Amino acid sequence: MEKFLIRGGRKLVGTVRVAGAKNAALKLMAASLLADGPIILTNVPKIKDVYTMASVLNRLGGLVDLDYRDQAVIDPSSYSGYEAPYELVSQMRASIIVLGPLLARAGRARVAMPGGCNIGSRKIDLHIRGLEALGADIEVDRGFIDAKARRLVGGPVKLDFPSVGATENVLMAAVLARGATAIENAAREPEIVDLATMLVEMGAKIEGIGTSTIQVEGVDRLSGVTHEVIPDRIEAGTLLTAAAITSGDVTVEGACLDHLEVVVAKLSDAGVKIQATPDGIRAVGRRPILPVDIATLPYPGFPTDMQAQIMALLSLAEGTSVITENIFENRFIVADEFVRMGCDVRIDGHHVVIRGVKAISGVPVKAPDLRGGAGLVLAGLVSDGVTEVSGIHHIDRGYEDLVGKLRAIGADIGRLPDINKVEALDSL
Ligand code: EPZ
Repeated sequence: MEKFLIRGGRKLVGTVRVAGAKNAALKLMAASLLADGPIILTNVPKIKDVYTMASVLNRLGGLVDLDYRDQAVIDPSSYSGYEAPYELVSQMRASIIVLGPLLARAGRARVAMPGGCNIGSRKIDLHIRGLEALGADIEVDRGFIDAKARRLVGGPVKLDFPSVGATENVLMAAVLARGATAIENAAREPEIVDLATMLVEMGAKIEGIGTSTIQVEGVDRLSGVTHEVIPDRIEAGTLLTAAAITSGDVTVEGACLDHLEVVVAKLSDAGVKIQATPDGIRAVGRRPILPVDIATLPYPGFPTDMQAQIMALLSLAEGTSVITENIFENRFIVADEFVRMGCDVRIDGHHVVIRGVKAISGVPVKAPDLRGGAGLVLAGLVSDGVTEVSGIHHIDRGYEDLVGKLRAIGADIGRLPDINKVEALDSL
């Protein structure tokens, strides 16, 4: 199994560019199901989830070309299927996002239940209720979501919780539905704004973009378009936190300060000097790191996807911090790995109490999920000795060349090939 090896103790200094946002790109790719002309996406991150989404769309008959630089070129003219199979959905639960656009395009969708993952049960009841409000007949049986709708009809949709995925599925169904749809208690994440912006560029009629009430007037068709994916705010936040934890000085080029207001505010509270640059954000870390209390919330609150990374930083604070996780029910799973490194992190229900320690040790740890893995890498950057991070397939799903980017600003980090594969190659 491949691993990262990290020798701690280096200050990170320099400039690094943020990639396009994973959680925007995947939905923009799925929106190609709504188009009657080619969709060309630029600033697409080269990450595993993008390739998985390409496989899902290819399985539906679409032609997805990821070979040209950072672009995804999708020809929707040959879309014919309506089934997203388990072997793909189980690799990436975000595949569920084809449900709404498939219903809008084909009036039919059969998508394997995504199942839970390490951070929570990841229910989809809000997706289903939202699509049923637009006239879809949906059954869930034998591990599949079976949805039908001769023609979707607009109407009021009130989400019990501002679910990112449910907002996106309902939005992509509503743009081709007959009549008007109002989505209340919609999620407001920048990735949803990016999706809605591209849909408008394709000819959709959407008001209230970025607010918790999105009004849609259905249209008959949507055209192809060329669209640039917004920068990845979570990758940017991760890189800024890497500067903070190593007392370094890093400029993250392409990062959008507007998307990171609360993250930047909390890093500043922890003693990090943050400033806007002409094309990004600069972070200068120093000691002592100050303790900070944080509660994860739907956007624009502190993002749950930055929780593990900030946990790593606060593990070295001079004092005690409390993080409250309000979005997922099991997103502290990485805490045990931090404890193995010598952190003093105690889970108490939805809270985790972090008592800062003076130093942490490099030991073998295992990434439990994408963002937990990123947190462990950050801890490895300041640990005594060498940290071996396994389970890095999680990290490869959402970070484009994390090793290359960290090495470019001074980290002593490498990717250790899977020794079994190396031995196998040796035997050839
Ligand atoms: C998106 O997941 C992101 N993934 C997640 O990022 C992110 O953590 C999450 O939004 C919250 O910001 C993508 O965009 C691909 P939700 P999503 O629906 O859409 C509950 C990462 O690391 N819920 O807003 O699945 C759910 O169980 C990933 O990049 C229901 O109860 O998130 C969870 O507790 C991890 N019923 C909460 O809402 C539903 O029908 C938030 O889920 C849907 C959700």
